[in-house]
Amino acid sequence: MSACEMEGEARAHEVVAVHTPSRSYDVHVGVGIIDEVGQLTRAACGGERACVISDDNVAPLYANAVAESLAEAGYETSLQVFPAGEANKNIETLSGLLEGLAAAELTRNDVVVAVGGGVTGDMAGLAAALYLRGCQVVQVPTSLLAMVDSSVGGKTAIDLAAGKNLAGAFFQPSLVVADVDCLDTLAPEQLADSCGEVIKHAVLSGPELFGDLVSHPIVAESRDSEALVRLVAQNVRVKRDVVDADEREAGLRQTLNLGHTIGHAIEAASDFSLGHGSCVAAGLCCMARAAASRGWSSVEVARVIEDACLAHGLPADTDLDHETIVSFAAHDKKRHGDTINIVVPVAIGSATIRTVTLAEFEELVRQGCGTLTR
Ligand code: GLY
Repeated sequence: MSACEMEGEARAHEVVAVHTPSRSYDVHVGVGIIDEVGQLTRAACGGERACVISDDNVAPLYANAVAESLAEAGYETSLQVFPAGEANKNIETLSGLLEGLAAAELTRNDVVVAVGGGVTGDMAGLAAALYLRGCQVVQVPTSLLAMVDSSVGGKTAIDLAAGKNLAGAFFQPSLVVADVDCLDTLAPEQLADSCGEVIKHAVLSGPELFGDLVSHPIVAESRDSEALVRLVAQNVRVKRDVVDADEREAGLRQTLNLGHTIGHAIEAASDFSLGHGSCVAAGLCCMARAAASRGWSSVEVARVIEDACLAHGLPADTDLDHETIVSFAAHDKKRHGDTINIVVPVAIGSATIRTVTLAEFEELVRQGCGTLTR
């Protein structure tokens, strides 16, 4: 990682280098760097054609700027826009995107440029993984959730009728460009929701990042670009350290699922009407309370995690009935036979993976869900 000054006006710009076994790439985090996507793509990817993929919420805001920047860098540029929303993260939309890449005559040396949030990044990444058995993809995340999590690490997917992200591939991007100015157009509730993943990273990372979040909660009214660059880059480094060590989730990467087993159940039970980050926050607090009751952790750890979530306006519990949570978790893709791997926050800066039976999981749900005492 290095902090660098761009020519002319000095603006915050950090570069985090990711080195996975399948690909090495840089994650640029900065202020006003969306106009540099073209030159950064040229340097990282080469190629002749670039296809920008975006949804109909984000395209009117940023797709033209990205397309112009790519054209200025010498790319023959095309644009594909699909209807926004998780409901469209499916095989039909993916099929349309693949046909669009063929119609734009992209070759294997060319580049797909994903401009948007997690749905766009996941689907454009999967289209790039499949098209011609793999062309390059550049991720340009425009939501905080996508900047700190989904744009980095190469998980790409679509949803199936049976569940979220059930068909996908590990396919690393060639470049990530996160311009924190894009967060200006994010609704305050979306910004707050993204903080669920930020708090998860802080719990995994340790007291420094966690303490910063508790003393300076991320709230829409106090957005400061330079602080956001530092925060996003810190989060990317937390994720980078994990995916560099375990690209395909054989072990350590499972810790990034902290809060997700119960969180996914809450999200699925709401028919995806609740935000992902809010569900992760609630799931994280429930697991922290359950861990404290089992003696795997302490009540103090659970309490500070609850404090961090509540300070960001996120839920620290769920009122969903226990049977529903267990039933959704039992159908989670991370279940193995009759057991399920859960991630337990042990301390701020430490989480362990435990394999539990569904009966043990049910007991944890009883101890941690609906048990917030304030
Ligand atoms: N979002 C968790 C992961 O990328 O592994």
